[in-house]
Amino acid sequence: MRSLRKLKTLAISASFACLPLMSAHAAQEDTTIGFIVKKPEQAWFINEQSAATELGKKDGFEVVKLSGVDGQEVLSAIDNLHSQGAQGFVICPPDVRLGPVIKRRAEQYDMKVVTVDDRFVNADGEPMKDVPHLGMSGYKIGQQVGNTIAKQIKARGWDMDDVAALRISNYELPTAKERTDGATDALMDAGFKKDNIFDAPQQNTDTSSAFAAASPVFSKQSKYKHWVIYALNEESVLGGVRASEQYGLTADDVIGVGINGSGAAFAEFSREKPTGFYGTIAVSSTMHGRQSAKNLYNWITEGEKPPANTQTTGKLMTRDNWQQVRDELGL
Ligand code: GLA
Repeated sequence: MRSLRKLKTLAISASFACLPLMSAHAAQEDTTIGFIVKKPEQAWFINEQSAATELGKKDGFEVVKLSGVDGQEVLSAIDNLHSQGAQGFVICPPDVRLGPVIKRRAEQYDMKVVTVDDRFVNADGEPMKDVPHLGMSGYKIGQQVGNTIAKQIKARGWDMDDVAALRISNYELPTAKERTDGATDALMDAGFKKDNIFDAPQQNTDTSSAFAAASPVFSKQSKYKHWVIYALNEESVLGGVRASEQYGLTADDVIGVGINGSGAAFAEFSREKPTGFYGTIAVSSTMHGRQSAKNLYNWITEGEKPPANTQTTGKLMTRDNWQQVRDELGL
């Protein structure tokens, strides 16, 4: 079916007499890659997949967007890709500990695999360095979160003793731990008290799991006047902010700072009135999607293995500058 389609394309292109261009195009069209993500409904991942697809259209390869919310779905996605003739896939895994299993399945099919955002770990919990990865420089971006919060505490003239921190944590996931550790260290360097930091362990990396984790913490620590909220991403911080509202705190008493700079933040900044979601460290999901797909494509077509670990940086986005930062990052 595909070859028939290709023959037709060839015939049509030839009739337009652009033969040299067409042959190159036909060769590239033979490449198909998958792009599997753990949270296909989140704006960050939607944008990554679209950016990869855009690049594929431009450079002449096919990108199959797939959902991989758990191990089972990831393995069937890989089977599916194999049956479509894919030569490899980019993946943000639902659980980084699935790394060895996913890699083995890819190898059985002679497919190449690169990770984006969340890096595979081996049985000892160490990063799988042989699988090329592209992700945020988590600790540094976490520090940006902590510094932004500390600056806002000062700007609002709060006494640090009256401020509690809601740290929505996910210590099973290194991506998350690096970021919240960075934020905690920066806050403490700015004089924040360790005893005023409370963990809300989330089961997942989304808004509802953060909301569920955050709610009991506010009720338990009712003596604090002001709250700051941080987590691995803005979806989780938004869960914390929604829980603070439900508890009765207003935007004046809450400073939530997220990470990502995706549609979730744009929607929040577009609300008529400011909320406790003060800002987010924006990273280009467009670049993450595009670059990881490009790395994989070059590996498949040129045999050039991508760098073991590419780390990206971020920029503070608030209600005041979000449209400008969005444009700068090509979001
Ligand atoms: C993790 C988070 C996402 C996003 C990416 C970015 O996967 O769950 O929300 O922050 O990292 O690298």
